[in-house]
Amino acid sequence: MPEASSSRPGAAAASAPFHLSDLDPARMVLDGFADSCLDPRRPVTSLSPGEHLASNPALFTSGGSWPRDVWADTALGVWIDGSMAETKTPLDLLDLCSMTCNTVLGINDPWVKLKQTAFLLSSHPHYLPARIGSGLYYRTARRILRCLDRFGEPGDFVINLRQCNGSDAVELALHAAWKAAADSPARRRLATFDGSYHGESVVGSLVMQDHSAEGSGRALLDHVDNATSFPSPTCDEAGYLTPQALATLATLERDGDSYFAVLIEPVQWRNSVHAIPLEFLRKLRDICTRKSICLIFDEVQNAFGYAGTIFFAQHCGVCPDIIATGKALTSGHGALGIVVAKKEFSAIETPFGGKTNSGDMLSFVAVDAVMDRLLGIDPDEAETLPAWLPPGLAADLRTGLLTTAYPVVAGLLDGLVTDLQRRFPSLLGPATGLGLLRGLTMLDADGRPSGRLAGQAAKICMRHGVYVRRAGTAVYLKPSLALRPADVDTALIRLSRTFDELCRLREEGPPS
Ligand SMILES: Cc1ncc(COP(=O)(O)O)c(C=O)c1O
Repeated sequence: MPEASSSRPGAAAASAPFHLSDLDPARMVLDGFADSCLDPRRPVTSLSPGEHLASNPALFTSGGSWPRDVWADTALGVWIDGSMAETKTPLDLLDLCSMTCNTVLGINDPWVKLKQTAFLLSSHPHYLPARIGSGLYYRTARRILRCLDRFGEPGDFVINLRQCNGSDAVELALHAAWKAAADSPARRRLATFDGSYHGESVVGSLVMQDHSAEGSGRALLDHVDNATSFPSPTCDEAGYLTPQALATLATLERDGDSYFAVLIEPVQWRNSVHAIPLEFLRKLRDICTRKSICLIFDEVQNAFGYAGTIFFAQHCGVCPDIIATGKALTSGHGALGIVVAKKEFSAIETPFGGKTNSGDMLSFVAVDAVMDRLLGIDPDEAETLPAWLPPGLAADLRTGLLTTAYPVVAGLLDGLVTDLQRRFPSLLGPATGLGLLRGLTMLDADGRPSGRLAGQAAKICMRHGVYVRRAGTAVYLKPSLALRPADVDTALIRLSRTFDELCRLREEGPPS
């Protein structure tokens, strides 16, 4: 656990994370399970982590699906307790990347688990095909759509809740845009941007132009003729759009009638966490409106809390025609992707539109609970919160973490980034991103951004007990709202150890 007690001013606005099992009613249920095969303390298998790891090649495909050497036993908030599987060295890992950008509330959020537990103990169906309705489905849809009320009249947007993940959602958004352009045969082109990532679907990986730059290999097909990837839009040092960004806008203005959609990721995480300039988004919106091009925001990384709002569109004030999102929707308590679209883009051609496993009701319970946490619960429901709920959690639920915790955590992260830049001026370049989506650019000995060093940093961080990811030439920091001042003090110590080591390695030069 943390090496330092907090020296930072101001307490985190969220109540301290705690395990659901600490609550009396949960304890009663767990007591009933004790010493039976349902006892959660029983080991799941008789093999050690090292023995499991040794069976990887016999069990799993390679690539992303293999468990690696870090083993998790328990976790709470931003902390994971476990070991290094091979050496059995104990490990306490500080999660600064919300478990690969999913768990916006931290790990094992008690409220989401409590709502899911209540649902599991009920006789509601745990799964439903699209052919069969339920109140929960409608509640979730209305609640999400309400977030976009400021962009028009209630009813202007519709939703598809039947996708399993972000890749599905992006692909469905493209289907909807394509279908809406069916009567305009000249509109066959799709505009995307270098440096974006749109998931693992065939379409997503095809339009991702720099796939191989990350060492991820080739997509299934070599190229598509009707997708144009424009340079990632940037500003010059004075804050004005670069001539290149203006040229992209001019091209879309000129050739707009041949485009059915523009797909853009407002903060491109793989592009070293580059935030697309707001001015570009505004101008792009204007062109898409005038030229009747469908503007799609891929908000799979950017939505549900990380920019302080449910949708990134609310954060930037620019409303696309379609939003595709996934990841943090359930804060890691179930797989779900959604598409929100203006009514003009509501038509989806069969057989697209409903993935089988999207009927998992626990995922809908999770979205509802995540929205309780982020926005606060309905005042009528607040009156009926159980008396045994810890007062801190009840207070959080009355206000919503986006109002209380978000500005505190964003400020803590900002302070961490500034401290690190001050300590390592030759290693760390400009900070990128915004809100809780931040990148620390890693510089080589000649002061150039280096993807190799960013990859090395992510690996070394793990050894020093911090989980971050590489994002292009940056180290990606995307903490959850459970981050507290003492955690940031620990992060500073551990990241400093990592960067000290990296500075030494950089001096030695790359292995020959
Ligand atoms: C911007 C973006 N779009 C789409 C996806 C695909 O989402 P998923 O992995 O849930 O399919 C991701 C995943 O990281 C993403 O970051």
